[in-house]
Amino acid sequence: MRLLPWKQKLAIDLGTATCHISVQGAGLVVREPTVIAFETDKRRPIAYGSQAKQMLDREVSDVEVVRPLAGGVVADFDSTVIFLRHLIHQALGHRPLFAPTVVVGEPTRATQVERRALMNALKAAGAGEVITVPRALASAIGAGIPMDQPQCRLMVNMGAGSTDIGVISMGMIAAGESLHFGGDDLDDTIRRYVQRRYRITIGSARAEDIKIMAGALSADLVSEQVRLSDLQEGESNGSGQKLEGIAELMRASLKPVASEVLWILDSLPERQLDEITQVESILSGGCAQLRGITELFSDELALHFTAAPDPISCTILGLEAIMNDLEALSLDGRRFTR
Ligand SMILES: Nc1ncnc2c1ncn2[C@@H]1O[C@H](COP(=O)(O)OP(=O)(O)OP(=O)(O)O)[C@@H](O)[C@H]1O
Ligand SMILES: [Mg+2]
Repeated sequence: MRLLPWKQKLAIDLGTATCHISVQGAGLVVREPTVIAFETDKRRPIAYGSQAKQMLDREVSDVEVVRPLAGGVVADFDSTVIFLRHLIHQALGHRPLFAPTVVVGEPTRATQVERRALMNALKAAGAGEVITVPRALASAIGAGIPMDQPQCRLMVNMGAGSTDIGVISMGMIAAGESLHFGGDDLDDTIRRYVQRRYRITIGSARAEDIKIMAGALSADLVSEQVRLSDLQEGESNGSGQKLEGIAELMRASLKPVASEVLWILDSLPERQLDEITQVESILSGGCAQLRGITELFSDELALHFTAAPDPISCTILGLEAIMNDLEALSLDGRRFTR
């Protein structure tokens, strides 16, 4: 692959919840929520990232707040383009003179439609050449899994909208899948459960708080109790009743993810399966921080899971390593190291 020396290079992890951008030579320069706010009438963008996120769930009049991605893929094309254009300018500090080369993460088994939407959005936002990398591979590199060894390793990245599963060997994905399931779905399940069981309406931001502050996958890991009175703004519920059942609810919600991993493992030749059982499997993405999730997956799959040290940054760190060593792409990734 020949690259023109004056072209800038960017690595972009366009996550459902958070967008990360690294610039070659400068490292990670952007970490912003993937949210954009428009003035409703003219559909003029008025806020991006964390500023726009503050308006979510607030129902500010004349303002429409959009999350351009859902389930790990582009859901609102036009908003994605406007959002990316703004963040690329922010990352470079100026409007690029030459369209920059972009290395971007894509779903591990991206469909043609998903890939085209991502590439077209980036090009419309000012990117030149776009190189897509499966997110399971990027996060494995970011988590420090060696890319030059034939022994298979299992990598699971669970973000806000998607879960990428990959069996990695020699810097390639031997088997894998991408599910449209992530932390957002857990929030939604909590929101509906609180409505159904307690008849209390909460927004998705509050549901995410419950998941992060009080959520754990077994009752003995719960460190902070939420009371119903905490959930009812303006109303004092004197009973002090505690919110219960969240651990069981989340365990049940995560079952399909474990089943999908099992399905992938079952499809492997016995030798590869043996290799996986002998080493640690890595969990990354924001959901790797859920208390008890590595224990849950270890039990359900009879494997030994550990969480990556900086789980939210694994994907961008891997993409950054690829951006810094693009020539190695011809080797199918196996030279990439952090
Ligand atoms: N401490 C925590 N405990 C539990 N969940 C957390 C914690 N911190 C973040 N999360 C969850 O992690 C998710 C965000 O993870 P991440 O930043 O990896 O997603 P993303 O890359 O934007 O999404 P995707 O890769 O699915 O497109 C959210 O659902 C968030 O609620
Ligand atoms: Mg992600």
